[in-house]
Amino acid sequence: MTETQSQSQWERVGGEEAVKAVLDRFYEGVLEEPQLSGFFENSDVDDIKPHLAEVLKVVLGGPGARTDIDLAGYLTNAHSGLGVSESDYELTGKVLIDTLNEFSVPADIIETIEGALATVQPFVVAAA
Ligand code: HEM
Repeated sequence: MTETQSQSQWERVGGEEAVKAVLDRFYEGVLEEPQLSGFFENSDVDDIKPHLAEVLKVVLGGPGARTDIDLAGYLTNAHSGLGVSESDYELTGKVLIDTLNEFSVPADIIETIEGALATVQPFVVAAA
């Protein structure tokens, strides 16, 4: 096994610092979208970023990733009452994937994140 293969996806992205840079750019992209920016009017995205970084650490197998997070409950609770539609969710996912491509994140890691996006969608999108 090469050294690259033995590293977690979190490490291969570049760890904490790289994830921070990606999330800064991601939220810039989200706030530039008229369809999405209104959701964040009463929130400070700088408060959300470290929490989303924790979620990504779990998804990408980062060191010391929390094992006690109930993702379903946590994400449902964080987004309840916001009224996020499927279309809002898809656009947000697109902004995220575009950002990952902008940072030249390897394809297998993008696939992992796409899988996670599909898994958590029901917790974020408002029940019909
Ligand atoms: C793609 C999957 C998503 C994940 C993994 C995710 C993750 C998170 C996390 C971890 C938080 C912070 C919760 C906390 O502070 O404890 C959060 C908050 C928030 N998210 Fe998401 N989110 C997603 C999609 C979305 C979408 C599509 C929207 C709207 C377009 C959205 C809007 C918000 C808003 C407005 C808050 C702040 C809520 C508040 O201030 O109470 N999220 N999200």
